[in-house]
Amino acid sequence: MAPSTSAPGSRVVTAGFFDQYPRFYETSETFAYPSRLNLRHEAIFGENRDVFEGRRVLDIASHDGRWSFAALQAGAASVVGIEGRPELVDAANATFAHYDVSPERYRFIADDIYHALAEEPWEFDVVMCLGFLYHTLRYNELMARIRRCNPTHLIIDTEVATDDRALVHIRVEDIGPQRNAVADDFSHEGRVLSGRPSVKGLETIVGAYGFEVERYSDWAGLVRDNPENADEFKNYRRGRRVTLRCKAQD
Ligand SMILES: C[S@@+](CC[C@H](N)C(=O)[O-])C[C@H]1O[C@@H](n2cnc3c(N)ncnc32)[C@H](O)[C@@H]1O
Repeated sequence: MAPSTSAPGSRVVTAGFFDQYPRFYETSETFAYPSRLNLRHEAIFGENRDVFEGRRVLDIASHDGRWSFAALQAGAASVVGIEGRPELVDAANATFAHYDVSPERYRFIADDIYHALAEEPWEFDVVMCLGFLYHTLRYNELMARIRRCNPTHLIIDTEVATDDRALVHIRVEDIGPQRNAVADDFSHEGRVLSGRPSVKGLETIVGAYGFEVERYSDWAGLVRDNPENADEFKNYRRGRRVTLRCKAQD
């Protein structure tokens, strides 16, 4: 993990975002621990608030709608969430209704992300690709489709392989667990070939599609200043997961 440049004590997260919206602690089986979700919120939104105001946002693999909801609360004009598990889309719709979000501001689509992105000529200002890049190996297809949406910013949160070279650590994952890849056109016998890029691999992937990394979120500072329940975000603490903001080059 890159060392923090922030002053000790400056990254304490006191009022956790999801403590105000606790339904999100119940609607997912996937690491919905309060400390982890609230620190992720700080890394994804606290450090990137300026890119969301008034923007149209795409949430790739939107799960139970947690980050779509946070994007609207951060000032986004609208959000489209695409999620391959229909029960999670149902949960997202129910939660948004529960918290009285105006239906004009959001749309959730239950579909394979590759299929849904190919369906319409989408336009978005900000694309969030959170917790998804390590559940696929179809990077050229994903990045080409993101680029075609014409966003100015791409926010990524992903597990990374710990290697100094530009590479992707391939693996095979089971489609059973809720956090994993869903069956798609290329899965075989309930399994999907997927990969975990290294940091340099990630930079190569986004760079090939005209995105420049503007900054990595300060996980070192968040970990230093929020030591409680550190096990809940240990992959960030160990440098095995990163959050970054990329800007499209003209
Ligand atoms: C680890 S969870 C991440 C959830 C959320 N984005 C986050 O960062 O907290 C991965 C999500 O990707 C979804 N998913 C996996 N493969 C997908 C695909 N091909 N199309 C759409 N959703 C997919 C899963 O159903 C799951 O909800």
